[in-house]
Amino acid sequence: MSLELIEDSRVIICLGTGGVGKTTTAAALGYMAAKAGRHVCVVTIDPAKRLADAMGIKELDNTPKKLETSSDIDLWAVMLDANSTFDELVQRFATSPEQVEKIFHNSIYQNLTENLSGTQEYMAMEKLHELVSDQRFDLLVVDTPPARNAIEFLNAPKRLIGFLENRFFRLLISPTQSVFRPVTIATRMLLRTISKVVGAQVVTDAVEFFQAFEGMEAGFKERASEVQDLLAQESTSFVLVTGTHKDTVEEALYFASRLGEFDLEVDLVISNRVTPDFGKSTDEDRQNLSREMQENLDYLIKLRTAELEELSRLAVIVDRSRHILVPQLAHDIGSLSEIQEIGEVLIDSKSRFVNSVSP
Ligand SMILES: Nc1ncnc2c1ncn2[C@@H]1O[C@H](COP(=O)(O)OP(=O)(O)OP(=O)(O)O)[C@@H](O)[C@H]1O
Ligand SMILES: [Mg+2]
Repeated sequence: MSLELIEDSRVIICLGTGGVGKTTTAAALGYMAAKAGRHVCVVTIDPAKRLADAMGIKELDNTPKKLETSSDIDLWAVMLDANSTFDELVQRFATSPEQVEKIFHNSIYQNLTENLSGTQEYMAMEKLHELVSDQRFDLLVVDTPPARNAIEFLNAPKRLIGFLENRFFRLLISPTQSVFRPVTIATRMLLRTISKVVGAQVVTDAVEFFQAFEGMEAGFKERASEVQDLLAQESTSFVLVTGTHKDTVEEALYFASRLGEFDLEVDLVISNRVTPDFGKSTDEDRQNLSREMQENLDYLIKLRTAELEELSRLAVIVDRSRHILVPQLAHDIGSLSEIQEIGEVLIDSKSRFVNSVSP
């Protein structure tokens, strides 16, 4: 059995709440796709150390690195760093070296990536735009940041377009244009009021910041709408990763509904760290177990049944043939062979919810 998604997609986006296994899943999908002959880059965000080591991305430098593997597969990984992505963008699209200098020295810019919410999501989008046109890759597997705001990644293009079209922003970058004159006076007064509250330097820096970007907005806007188109294409697949607990199931339902608001659909649900199936044990099997082990086995069987019951709520998102159960392994995932182990599960038809014993 194969997993069509890794054969057909151009972009796979892994979404899910914090800690459920998005990075592991992204790496495993990427690994299996590369094994199937595709040229893959896994775009990851702040992976756990062992996982980063396994993917060969110890140092943070924002450029894709090819993984050294014993088999001849074309698998790359890049760790997204919002700060340097923004710096690269400014360098690439600024109209002059002076503009680059001006932006880099602006205090707002220097604090931007830490303080402006959505910057990381926006930068992930810019990186995606850059990598999609990179001839070395025919599949990008994108891991998203932890927490609920991962979904903001999808909103980033729209928000940026809205921001760039914002009248206040337009006034700030062209305050001397005569058509805006009457409004400009009002704007200045508003700025003066804001200055009193936040300090004049902040306002000066803010105005300079927007002015520094003059001439670059068109490019930002164009790329934002291109990414928006890319996300809507059929060759872009959305994988929703969940755990087995009620909270992560609720979060998955929330994510799916948010995707729906963008007219996007979940293509695959992966429930990670499910209590393994111990199969049917005969009376004879049980007799060979100590009393304690029998009790443990009964407990685990009950636990799995409860988990499957909880997970069956996800049937409103995808049917059970597009819902994969990945078992809780006895060890952490910190090497390529462990990533492969998860990957093998993903492509095995036995892992589909539809093929597991219903609760
Ligand atoms: N099936 C599994 N069995 C055992 N351990 C697992 C399994 N899947 C993931 N892990 C471990 O769980 C931890 C969290 O996984 P991972 O980093 O992939 O989650 P994440 O969703 O990317 O987290 P974050 O939201 O913090 O980025 C890691 O230490 C990983 O090795
Ligand atoms: Mg992660």
